[in-house]
This record gives sequence, C-alpha cells and structure tokens, in this order.
Amino acid sequence: MVSFQFPKTSCIFLVLVLLSFANKSYGARKLFSLYQTPSLAIEYHKGVLLQGNISVSIYWYGKFTPAQKSIIVDFVQSLNPSGKNVISSQNAPTVSQWWQTIGTYMKKAGKIPTNIALSTQISDENCSLGKILKKAQITRLARRVNSKPNELTLVLTGEDVAAEGFCMSNCGYHGWSKKLNSRSAFIWVGNSVTQCPGQCAWPFAQPIYGPQTPPLGAPNGDVGVDGMMVNIASLMAGAVTNPFGNGYFQGPAGAPLEVASACPGVYGKGAYPGYAGELLVDKSTGASYNAVGTNGRKYLLPGLFDPNTSQCSTIV
Ligand SMILES: *[C@@H]1O[C@H](CO)[C@@H](O)[C@H](O)[C@H]1NC(C)=O
Ligand SMILES: *[C@@H]1O[C@H](CO)[C@@H](O)[C@H](O)[C@H]1NC(C)=O
Ligand SMILES: *[C@@H]1O[C@H](CO)[C@@H](O)[C@H](O)[C@H]1NC(C)=O
Repeated sequence: MVSFQFPKTSCIFLVLVLLSFANKSYGARKLFSLYQTPSLAIEYHKGVLLQGNISVSIYWYGKFTPAQKSIIVDFVQSLNPSGKNVISSQNAPTVSQWWQTIGTYMKKAGKIPTNIALSTQISDENCSLGKILKKAQITRLARRVNSKPNELTLVLTGEDVAAEGFCMSNCGYHGWSKKLNSRSAFIWVGNSVTQCPGQCAWPFAQPIYGPQTPPLGAPNGDVGVDGMMVNIASLMAGAVTNPFGNGYFQGPAGAPLEVASACPGVYGKGAYPGYAGELLVDKSTGASYNAVGTNGRKYLLPGLFDPNTSQCSTIV
C-alpha cells in the first residue's frame, strides 16, 4: 500500500518528516502554520461520510488526570445539539452551534447531520505498547476499540508518550483501520505540553517560529489539554467529513485541505498569522475562548471553511 504521508509543512519541518507507508492518514493537524485563505471550494468526492448517529470512543494512552479527561469528555458531549448545552451569561456561542457547520456539509451531500454520542472509554495508563509509538501502533490501539462502521475512535496520548511524527510534522491526524471487510475511522492527538507546546498548543504557548505573540490564557487552565482540544475539534471535523479519503476536501487526495485544516490559526474575527483573532475573555481567569459547552466549560474552537460562503469562518 503506497500513499502520501503528511500535507506539506514548512521546509524546516519537511526535512524531518519520517515517511512511513504502513498506513494511511489524512488531514494531519499541522504544526502552527500561516493562514492562507483557500482559493477554491471544498468539494465532495462522493465517498462515505460519518453521517447520522455516530458513537465516539476514547482510548486514553499514558498519563491523564481525571480533570484532564473531563475537559475532553465534556467537549464530546457538547457537540450534540440536543445535549446539555449551557448558554453562558456572556451569551457565548455553543459548541453545538459550531458543529452545525458540519451538519450543513452533510445536508449538502444529501446525508443526515452527524449526531455525536460518547460511547466506550478505555484507559491504558501503563502504556501497553511502550512510550514511543509508531504510526502502525496507533492504528492498532484504535482497532482495539473499533468494532462498528458508525464509530469514531479518539486515540489520545498523554504528555509522557512520544509518537512518530509528533512535533516534527504534525500534532495529530485522522485515518482509519481495517478489520475484515469493515473500515473504522480514528483520530490520534498527543499532549504536547512537555514536548512541543509552541508548535502544537498554540495560541496557548509561545510559538517557536513565525510571528511572536504572547500566549493566550488556556480556557481550562491546562495548556497541554486545551491545546489538544483545538486539534481534536479540528480533526473531528475532518474525520466525519472525510473519513476514508474520498469525502470533502480540496487539493490532492494525498495532501487534502479539509473543512478545518483549510483554516489553520483562525479562531476569531480579524485573525492573521500569529494573531488568533478577536476572542471572548473570561474576566476572572483571563482565559481566551470562543464557545461554551456542557457544564459551562469554555473552549477555543478552530475556524471552519464555510460551505455557503467558501470562506474561513469563525464562531465569534
Ligand atoms: C439517532 O438516535 C436517536 C436517539 O438515540 C433516534 O431517535 C434516531 O432515530 C436515531 N437516528 C438515526 C438516523 O438512526
Ligand atoms: C448554510 O445555508 C443553509 C441554508 O440557507 C443554512 O441552513 C445553514 O445554516 C448555513 N450554514 C452555515 C454554516 O452558515
Ligand atoms: C499501572 O501500574 C501501576 C503501578 O505499577 C498499578 O498500580 C496500576 O494498577 C496499573 N494500572 C493498570 C490499569 O493496570
């Protein structure tokens, strides 16, 4: 099986890319990169999308505290429009409003809007495959959970775990695993806090390259996990709209720009390289955010390519 690996990143990172042709992965969440408005629309390539009721399982690999897990669990539970969303006193947009753009993509393809429900969680705190993971091993972990086609698995690795390509060419990616005749989509994201926060937890950490701006306050006070959250949100948007490489994307199939990866670094109005855009600020903590979810939780969600206007659009 031959396929591409990662979308092009800057030359600095490109030379460090480890090419591995063992498994396909799409829509890698790139390291902090400069914002360019894509010139073309994101097209539907007629393949399978993750439509309708989709259950999301989480495979926790390595170190996560209960507080860290609940930031991510609350996010997954906030996506469902009929879920327990909270409209904050500041009247902030909700996570499920952000997810409605994904519903628009589904409807445009004649599908049912994606309705996420949290399913199984597995904890592998003692790292059954070791602390340095190859891409094929991440796929293997995903396969331990995946059983049904309508399931999306998040493989999340803690700050104590290193992974192939992490911090060098990407901060996470989505792909799929195959078991007998069925394919299951998965996402992998790592906690970069001790390894490369400037690359994978921007804008909550100082970037290593590019325009230098002071880091923003992390919405849940956890630079590593709030940084993961941005990458998870972006990759979930990509995984449901392009789960098997023939859904919605722009550009070559081997290096696709997907609904979120087409808009890197854009979180609020007026964003430009190095500036995340106008955001809401929590007066008591100073944290920046743009959406609220279950349990009043605050999140910073990535801009999405709006299918109606063919522009990157943000929730605030
Ligand atoms: C999705 O699940 C809800 C409730 O769990 C159910 O009412 C609905 O019919 C399901 N939709 C589809 C398309 O299966
Ligand atoms: C796109 O347009 C449709 C139909 O007017 C509307 O229902 C939907 O909310 C719009 N989506 C977005 C993301 O603005
Ligand atoms: C992980 O290792 C620790 C320390 O050896 C042990 O106490 C704990 O029970 C292990 N956890 C699991 C799930 O096996």
